[in-house]
Amino acid sequence: MNTKELTNKYIMNTYGRFDLTLVKGDGCILYDENGKQYIDFASGIAVNNLGYNNHAINEAVINQLKKLIHVSNYFYTEPQALLAEKLCKNSFADKVFFCNSGAESVEGAIKLARIYAGKFSKRGYKIIAMQNSFHGRTFGALSATGQDKYHNGFKPLLEGFMHVEFNNLDLVEKLVNGAGGKDYCAVIVEPVQGEGGVNIADKEYIKSLRNLTAENDIVLIFDEVQVGLGRTGKLFAYMNYDVEPDIMTLAKPLAGGLPIGAVLAKDDTANAFEPGNHASTFGGGPLVTTAANAFFDEITKEGFLDEVLKTGDYIKSKLDELKIDFPKFIKDIRSIGLISAIEFHSLKAKDIAVELIKEGFLTTAVQDKILRLTPPLIIKKNEIDLLIESIVNVLNRNYNK
Ligand SMILES: Cc1ncc(COP(=O)(O)O)c(C=O)c1O
Repeated sequence: MNTKELTNKYIMNTYGRFDLTLVKGDGCILYDENGKQYIDFASGIAVNNLGYNNHAINEAVINQLKKLIHVSNYFYTEPQALLAEKLCKNSFADKVFFCNSGAESVEGAIKLARIYAGKFSKRGYKIIAMQNSFHGRTFGALSATGQDKYHNGFKPLLEGFMHVEFNNLDLVEKLVNGAGGKDYCAVIVEPVQGEGGVNIADKEYIKSLRNLTAENDIVLIFDEVQVGLGRTGKLFAYMNYDVEPDIMTLAKPLAGGLPIGAVLAKDDTANAFEPGNHASTFGGGPLVTTAANAFFDEITKEGFLDEVLKTGDYIKSKLDELKIDFPKFIKDIRSIGLISAIEFHSLKAKDIAVELIKEGFLTTAVQDKILRLTPPLIIKKNEIDLLIESIVNVLNRNYNK
């Protein structure tokens, strides 16, 4: 049996896969089993921010591999401590908790918010979350997620999540100031809703949300699993908004493609956790944190994020032109840094993604009619030009009749 047949026979049927088996990558290029090349505008769902076969990450991991892979959090390990220091020194946070995925980081954030409420703010256990959000597939993260399609078949979910329209402060205010307002201990929001279709929060909304939550001692959680760590052209997405959250979740790109998650918090929130409250066997192990140190050093090198911003401006201008050229098909373009969405009026994003694979490009369809682009942050302008040319070809060849 070939890889596809083995997968379909032995792996649980939870993914709608493209008909493509990938075997290696270098820079922004991926290769399939027949040696065909693809320019990557997916990055393993916003993970491979430095592309593939990155020298610094490879060297660091190979060295650490020979020294120590795992020991458990009963002991101190240097790579974990150094990574925590870097994350704190470069963000609002004072403390970090390491875990293994985005969903786990959201679980950690929910637990921290609840224990803080019980010990300090004396508020209830309920959490305000956003419609159209995505926070992961474990029960807490799933309950925070504001899209029914992910809930179907799994109810009852974790109690106490109230979903309100994204980018609408009035609705949050009504809950916090209304009868039962004291029941709410936290608000969780993605500054940019990645899975929801690249919906970018307004500056005023985030600022007002920060004021409202601070005034009421409600913990503000930013889920930056998808858009933290350089994706928006800033080191963290909250830096686009001139505010700081109380808790932030990170994952996807942090360890250069190895599994990691992190919960970051200020001391006054983080201090609610005591030994025994929360833990992870693998969380922050020496191998993944070594990779993460190498990744973090690369993206914080002088000029790196300036380039991301420039490339981000370039892709946005090209996509805006595309919309002007194809108003019949393209309804909206949303883009910040190097996360972009092409929203179609009626074309199915998955069909476009399949056509683009034939042309040698990998993209992701997030909602029915929304194609998302999350290239490695090292993508070049000429690679963007090639993608745009191919989208034009796909639209003209298949639909412009
Ligand atoms: C904003 C956000 N939070 C959480 C998650 C869940 O991450 P993971 O798949 O690593 O559990 C995702 C995944 O797409 C995400 O985009």
